Parts: sequence; C-alpha cells; structure tokens
Amino acid sequence: MTKKRVAIIGAGPSGLAQLRAFQSAAANGEDIPEIVCFEKQGNWGGLWNYTWRTGLDEFGEPVHGSMYRYLWSNGPKEGLEFADYTFDEHFGKPIASYPPRAVLFDYIEGRVKKADVRKWIKFRTSVRWVDYNEDSGKFRVVAHDLVNDKEIVEDFDNVIVASGHFSTPNVPEFEGFENFGGRVLHAHDFRDALEFKDKDILIVGTSYSAEDIGSQCWKYGCKSVTVSHRTAPMGYDWPENWQEVPLLQKVDKNTAYFKDGTSKEIDAIILCTGYLHHFPFMADNLRLRTANRLASADLYKGVAWAHNPKLFYLGMQDQWYTFNMFDAQAWYVRDMISGKIPTQSKIDMTTDVENRIAAEDALEDDYACIRYQGDYVRELIAETDYPSFDVDTANEAFFQWKKHKKQNIMTFRDNGYVSPMTGDKAPTHHTKWSEALDDSLESYLKI
Ligand SMILES: Cc1cc2nc3c(=O)[nH]c(=O)nc-3n(C[C@H](O)[C@H](O)[C@H](O)COP(=O)(O)OP(=O)(O)OC[C@H]3O[C@@H](n4cnc5c(N)ncnc54)[C@H](O)[C@@H]3O)c2cc1C
Ligand SMILES: NC(=O)c1ccc[n+]([C@@H]2O[C@H](COP(=O)([O-])OP(=O)(O)OC[C@H]3O[C@@H](n4cnc5c(N)ncnc54)[C@H](OP(=O)(O)O)[C@@H]3O)[C@@H](O)[C@H]2O)c1
Repeated sequence: MTKKRVAIIGAGPSGLAQLRAFQSAAANGEDIPEIVCFEKQGNWGGLWNYTWRTGLDEFGEPVHGSMYRYLWSNGPKEGLEFADYTFDEHFGKPIASYPPRAVLFDYIEGRVKKADVRKWIKFRTSVRWVDYNEDSGKFRVVAHDLVNDKEIVEDFDNVIVASGHFSTPNVPEFEGFENFGGRVLHAHDFRDALEFKDKDILIVGTSYSAEDIGSQCWKYGCKSVTVSHRTAPMGYDWPENWQEVPLLQKVDKNTAYFKDGTSKEIDAIILCTGYLHHFPFMADNLRLRTANRLASADLYKGVAWAHNPKLFYLGMQDQWYTFNMFDAQAWYVRDMISGKIPTQSKIDMTTDVENRIAAEDALEDDYACIRYQGDYVRELIAETDYPSFDVDTANEAFFQWKKHKKQNIMTFRDNGYVSPMTGDKAPTHHTKWSEALDDSLESYLKI
C-alpha cells in the first residue's frame, strides 16, 4: 500500500507540534505518513522567529511577523510548557517565569532539533491554494518555491493548516487619518519602542497588544501613553504619564478627539485592534471563518473541519494556553489521521461544535475561560499518548498571573510560578522587568 501523504502549512509552534507528534509515533515504531511541511519564511518558529521587516518581504510576500524587539512573554511560561520537553531539560537549570522572545524561541527550537524534524520542512515555500477533489478523495496543494520562483503542485490525503491567526491586521479607519501629522501604524508593524522615545502616543484597543506595546513604550521612555477604548478601559493602576480615554472620534492634524469631548495632542497612533483569521489560500468550501474565540466555528474537537474531517486547523482558538494546547491538538490530529481515533458522523461533529460554542457563551469571567481552555487541553490529551500533566497547576499559574497584573501592571513579570511538569517554583529573575533593557538570551540566563 502507498503511504498516506500529509501536508502541514506553517512551521510555527503549531506546525512544529504536529511534526513532533508524528516523529514521536515513528520513534515508538509506528508507521507514519509521508509528511511535507510548507513554510514561507526562511526559518521555523512562526511569530517567534523575529524579523525587522514590515509590509512585504524580499519575495513580495506579506511579512508574517507581528513580534517586536524587547518582547517578553505576556503570560507565565508555566502555562505553555511542553509536557515532553520541560524548561529544565532545555536550559539545564531553572529559569524565571516570563522569558523574552529569544529565550522562548530557543526553547521551541530545542525540542524540534532534538526530534530531528527539519528535514520534513520546505522553507521559503508559500502555499497559494488548497482545494479538494471529491473523485480522488485528495487535496491539491499549490505552493510557490520562492527562491527558485517555481510552482509546486502536489496531492495529499490530509491537510493541516497551522498558519497562525495573529498576522493579518484588523485596521479600522478614523476620520482625519489622511491628514494626521505623525505616523499611524498597526501593532503588526510595531518593531521598536525606541522609535517612540519622548513622544506622546495614542493607542487604540485594550487587549494584550495595547497593554504590552503601551508598557514597552513607557519602559523605553515615551512621553505619554493615551489608550482609547471601544468597549471598556483596561482599568489597571497605570503610571502617571498614562491615561485611558473613550473611543477616538477623529484626528485633526496632531489633535485627537475622543467620545467624551476631550482631546489630546499626539505624535503617533498605534492601532492595537487585533487580527483577522485570514486564509486566502483555502478554497471557499474549506476556508475557516471564525471570530477570535475559545470555541472556533466549524472545528470538531477544535481541530477537525466538520465538513470534511480529512482537513484540520491547529491553534485557531483565542489563546490562554498556547504551546501545550497546540501539542494536545497535534497529537489528537495525528491519531485521527492514523484512524486510532475514529471519525464521527457529520451530525455528531457539528453538535460537538455547537456544544462548545454554547459552553463558552455561558462563561462568566476570565477565570472561567482559563478553566474552560484547561479542560479542553485535558480532554484531548486524555485520548492520546501525549504525556499527561497537571492542568490545574497550569490554570493556577494563569490565576496568579491575573492577580499579579491587577496588583501592579508594571511589576507582574517579576513573579515566579510552579511548573505543572516538574512541580518546582521558578526562581525570581535577576533584574526587574522594568529595569531589564537588554532582552537577549545571554542576559536573561545569567545568574
Ligand atoms: C505580538 C504577539 C505576541 C505574542 N506573545 C505570546 C506570548 O508571550 N506567549 C504565548 O504563549 N503566545 C504569544 N503569542 C501568541 C502566538 O499566537 C503563539 O505563541 C504562537 O506563535 C502561535 O503559533 P502558530 O504556529 O499557531 O502560528 P504562528 O506562530 O503565526 O506560525 C504560523 C507559521 O505559518 C507560516 N505560514 C503562514 N501562511 C503560510 C503559507 N501560506 N504558506 C506557508 N507558510 C505559511 C508562517 O510563516 C509562520 O511561520 C503572541 C502573539 C503575538 C501576535
Ligand atoms: N508580550 C506578549 O506576549 C504579547 C504582546 C502583544 C500581543 N500578544 C498576543 O497577541 C494576540 C493578539 O492580541 P491583540 O491585543 O493584538 O488582539 P485582540 O486580543 O484580538 O484585541 C483586539 C483589541 O482591538 C479592539 N478593537 C478591534 N476593532 C476595533 C475598532 N474598530 N475600534 C476600536 N477598538 C477595536 C478590541 O476592542 P473591543 O474589546 O472593544 O472588542 C480589542 O481591545 C494575543 O494572543 C496576545 O496574547 C502578546
């Protein structure tokens, strides 16, 4: 019999989780399909693979990266730790709870180097189109080898979309933008807080990008931060040069006007207004259309396309849990593909989707959302051989994190939490986050 062929789109944390899932089955002596992972960037790591570029890359492709210099994890590492590859194993010693980007990149890379899965990835290869042929029962994947400027067309039995959903910016327009006397940018194109040193900045949005980009600019010396909200202010106890205002109405030259009639002179506007789930390369009948929420539309068990469960999407939920949730999903997808986990009827799959959406809609607060996503991770790992871990301890790290943010939004990263994998509490970092201007791996890891 010919081997099944599986295409994975993207070699970020989700796609790499899928590669590791297949490799671990192979290491256990199981027969695995032929795997081809298409990655449009020149290296793995997805968003964690930092680029200075914005707009289009050297091949004219939209730049995927939304990360910026000096970015530190915004949640505790104890919530994202791999169950099969702990931080202690990678770094050979305990490290503090909120690593900067380069440290997390190193950790992500350590596991897949050890698993030796790089050979399965076609780098600099952008997937342009995926459709499904009912007669052959196969997907056709059209990709572009960017370096050699060549089209690749191949058939696959399964497709796993792991292309992320925090790269295509949602960009609203406000009156007067065309005449604004400074720079208007989306968080996707923010790269270096030093650009805004001594500037009065206006941020639109109140979620993680708003909070973190504002905090970065504060840390690296901007003059003031004004955050404009559509629904509600964030409500933290902000530093003195920081204010929260209602929604922006218009700008006139360098003056911004807000819904409550107040105004403020500003030098730059950063739109922290979120991202779009954007899959222009998927045929209409295969394309996921969902809001950024915990229960995605149309995905059975959060991963299998309910209208054709030979197609999968990884990591498409809004994320409290990240890396270990992607693992839970990847192991589950692997076992659906091998047939270890049987496929359900369409009605059972759509009922599963509806139940997840209704359960999410009934959640009261962020704490309930964390428990909900923790339960989802637990549910998936119970059905595969992914190493079981103490989800309650990971939930607890998130609860403590929320409490520490409420206590002081500029010091929450100075705390340490208990690992759900080892049971050990992380040490305190040698320098407070607000004073640690060097975000390099070397600086973070020194004692
Ligand atoms: C600014 C920012 C900060 C974040 N910080 C944190 C944090 O501190 N902690 C945390 O846990 N999470 C954080 N996240 C969440 C982040 O989504 C996850 O950590 C993780 O990167 C998601 O992995 P992914 O593989 O699903 O997607 P991505 O990391 O986005 O990777 C997707 C990959 O698919 C590739 N790709 C896309 N389209 C194609 C195509 N057509 N063809 C071929 N390849 C393609 C991309 O090049 C990329 O390599 C952050 C997100 C953002 C935007
Ligand atoms: N250091 C870090 O680790 C770090 C830093 C940044 C981002 N991230 C990650 O990046 C991901 C994305 O976060 P995000 O904050 O970019 O997106 P997000 O969580 O989707 O939030 C989008 C924000 O934009 C607002 N918004 C959307 N459209 C708007 C409009 N037309 N007018 C005004 N406001 C509008 C929303 O307001 P409403 O509430 O009114 O809808 C919301 O506050 C998260 O997973 C986060 O963890 C991590």
